[in-house]
Amino acid sequence: MGAFKEPHGGELKNLYLNEAAAEAEKQAARDYVSWDLTERQLCDIELLLNGAFSPLEGFLNRADYDAVVSSMRLTSGVLWPMPVTLDVSEDFAGKLQPGDKVALRDLEGVILATLEVGDIWSPDKAREAEGVFGTTDEKHPAVHFLNNIAGPVYVGGRLTGIEAPTHYDFKHLRESPAEVRTRFKKLGWRKVVAFQTRNPMHRAHQEISHRAAREVEANLLIHPVVGMTKPGDVDHYTRVRCYEHILKYYPEQTTSLSLLPLAMRMGGPREALWHAIIRKNYGCTHIIIGRDHAGPGKDSKGEDFYGPYDAQELLKAHADELDISMVPFRMMVFAENKAQYIPIDEATDADQVLNISGTELRRRLQEGLEIPEWFSFPDVVTELRRTHPPRHKQGFTVFFTGLSGSGKSTIANALMSKLMEIGGRQITLLDGDIVRKNLSSELGFSKEHRDLNIQRIGFVASEITKNGGIAICAPIAPYTSTRRYVRDLIEPVGGFIEIHVSTPLEICEERDRKGLYALARAGKIKEFTGISDPYETPENPEMAIDTIGISPDLAAHRILVKLESMGFIK
Ligand code: ADX
Repeated sequence: MGAFKEPHGGELKNLYLNEAAAEAEKQAARDYVSWDLTERQLCDIELLLNGAFSPLEGFLNRADYDAVVSSMRLTSGVLWPMPVTLDVSEDFAGKLQPGDKVALRDLEGVILATLEVGDIWSPDKAREAEGVFGTTDEKHPAVHFLNNIAGPVYVGGRLTGIEAPTHYDFKHLRESPAEVRTRFKKLGWRKVVAFQTRNPMHRAHQEISHRAAREVEANLLIHPVVGMTKPGDVDHYTRVRCYEHILKYYPEQTTSLSLLPLAMRMGGPREALWHAIIRKNYGCTHIIIGRDHAGPGKDSKGEDFYGPYDAQELLKAHADELDISMVPFRMMVFAENKAQYIPIDEATDADQVLNISGTELRRRLQEGLEIPEWFSFPDVVTELRRTHPPRHKQGFTVFFTGLSGSGKSTIANALMSKLMEIGGRQITLLDGDIVRKNLSSELGFSKEHRDLNIQRIGFVASEITKNGGIAICAPIAPYTSTRRYVRDLIEPVGGFIEIHVSTPLEICEERDRKGLYALARAGKIKEFTGISDPYETPENPEMAIDTIGISPDLAAHRILVKLESMGFIK
């Protein structure tokens, strides 16, 4: 274990043992209690071990944690804005004593590091949320994470690194702080400005970063986060391909790209300060802070959590202590009359200012609409269109729900034929009976089993949808929460169209196609939906169809029209 001095950024920690010592530690660790690191902890540990989180040498102990939460400092007085803690379950914490050693493993069980247990405590999460993020509103992704995903007990302690977490993607772009520093040295880059991002880069971002480099006469490091970002962000695989395209829009040899496996907290100002310290550790001399840096979006009242330039203010207030300088930017907008980007505070009434928001961009991608040249680069747009095809090229699920005998299957079959006539996508029918026979033959009709059945249908439908196909599901699906679960599974990967076949119970019973209602009334079938088990009516389905007075053919036709109006068929 050691530390070394470099011309950039001061002392860098390196918590890894040398090869022989690591092997010995690994052997010894086989007898330690084990903790399987979570996705967030895997990100944190990678940056702790390689020194990106210098001066930290492990997960925070209690006094440091308290100091960081209340005053943004470690007990040593050093500025450190973000708690980096190991959260565990009560059960696991109960097995530990201070001084114990813990083997920390990745998802496959590989021991990456050992922890010498320091403090074990149950944090006051409301205090942490308020202190660090200035809010207890769970609309803040980090507060939501803290309250609902993070474990209840924290374990602090020093880390000893055995092996770096494995990554199989973009290996050529993954570097430790020491490697980045060495590269800068080799290239003779004495001044380097870092550009932090978690989004695809468009012209505004290229403009900001290029201007920043010119302004401070520095080279540029595009340093995107590929660990965890805001839920709903464009996946990092797509983004990195976009960044690779964008490199050619900078003067040759001035700019480079390296990936940062950070788990962002979307902590606004405090996070910006953290980003600065991290980039200093990577050997950068400057960092760009623009509008709403690391912003978490809107709170539950629809208001911003932080002011758009709060992050710049916080960095300014601590400029003396930070071994890295800020290059601040106001919001960049496109002035059409000048055919160039300008900071918004330089725009006059005479300027025709254009801007496309993230939401508007997503809409245009979804509908296959034009994305203008002034906004982005053609190869970046092509890359985004590959992963975000317009709706008529996406997969989707039509999810029928309704009582037994309501007509779901008949309409589903009619719809399937009509969709096959149109062609273009593979179609799978997951009708109640088909599923019960093939996927869920061992299941009964208790609430637990019904839920399991629907969850399985949801899983299969989401895979079909993700791969660009059409899934038509026609289970009874009587429970709102389970339907919600399926929707949440499918919407991120394609379309989800819920159709309530709302034929009333009396009619279903009167038709009694399969004779099941008679058996249910006679008590020969238990837990029968509508008779002896509840059906929770969907509140906001995409469509409701009552089959009284409308033929299955017409019902299927109406669904086609709906799919067309939503853009799923052309
Ligand atoms: S962030 O969460 O990493 O901050 P994003 O990737 O969108 O989100 O932003 C990267 C950096 O560019 C941040 O410093 C942000 O403030 C800045 N930025 C993004 N868009 C603009 C813009 N239109 N004008 C000024 N700064 C911007």
